[in-house]
Amino acid sequence: MHIIRRRGWEIPEHLVTPEHFVLNRRTLLGAAGAMSILPAIAARADTPVNPTYKDAGRPVTDEKYATTYNNYYEFDTDKSIWRAAQKLKQHPWTIRIEGMVAQPRSIGIDDLLAQIPQEERIYRHRCVEAWAMTVPWSGFPLSKLVKLADPLASAKYVVFETAQDKSMTGLSAFYPWPYTEGLTIEEAANDLAFISTGMYGKALPPQNGGPIRLTVPWKYGFKSAKSIVKVSFTDKRPVTFWESLQSSEYGFWANVNPEVSHPRWSQATERLLGSNERVPTQLFNGYAEQVAGLYSGVKNQKLFM
Ligand code: MTE
Repeated sequence: MHIIRRRGWEIPEHLVTPEHFVLNRRTLLGAAGAMSILPAIAARADTPVNPTYKDAGRPVTDEKYATTYNNYYEFDTDKSIWRAAQKLKQHPWTIRIEGMVAQPRSIGIDDLLAQIPQEERIYRHRCVEAWAMTVPWSGFPLSKLVKLADPLASAKYVVFETAQDKSMTGLSAFYPWPYTEGLTIEEAANDLAFISTGMYGKALPPQNGGPIRLTVPWKYGFKSAKSIVKVSFTDKRPVTFWESLQSSEYGFWANVNPEVSHPRWSQATERLLGSNERVPTQLFNGYAEQVAGLYSGVKNQKLFM
């Protein structure tokens, strides 16, 4: 049986990091990210915006909030890991592709980025803790990475694994490392599922999961695994990091739904980073039109947790 220390985003968000502390730190330190070691081919300010995702229906969150208020348990369970995360060396960076694929292989980030054109998309992001932000990500549709990986027709799930690096002091804590997350092959093929390699027209900073992370805007943020080093394909549903710790609170599907409360707090509203405004949460984080159909055949499962 696991003994669970309820910290960080496992407890109501307002109890985690007092906002005045976050603001003071920001004032002192300014925008983050500049110190990271960037990949040779990084996001550029002139990355073309995909017109379908040029407006998320909300103002874009100020970069300084999105890059200094982070969840990245490998560094620590509090939100102020951005400075510590600068120690994560992001280049060279290799991603292993394995499992049910035609040919297991490793691919360097520069090689990957040279093969797949980058685009910018503005997405809403909803953390299970009930804070939210709106971010211009750059990267490419996950479907392009799946195509490059060439999975077998019998593969049903794609699993993402985060790096375990010596710079990550949080790895000494009792958690089921490595951080893994997974999607069905159908979810991965949905146009919204995105691999981010940049944000705000710059390379993705390490605290946000640089050099390469998953971005799944219709699901709670914990599905969006950071700093990916392995992508594998399987025909068995993976038991992911948070599900293995607390399956009654963090399930496999984790689709955003304002009507299904977390066992310990409501999911009806969310707090916007920066303004602190509380706004209603939307089904599938407002992306129901694009993704609701993915779940029409799924019965008797907790789709929203
Ligand atoms: N990925 C890893 N490897 N470790 C983490 O702790 N936290 C998740 C997700 N991906 C996490 C992770 C959670 S709970 C959220 S809300 C988002 O990252 C936060 O992303 P951000 O820090 O870029 O806002």
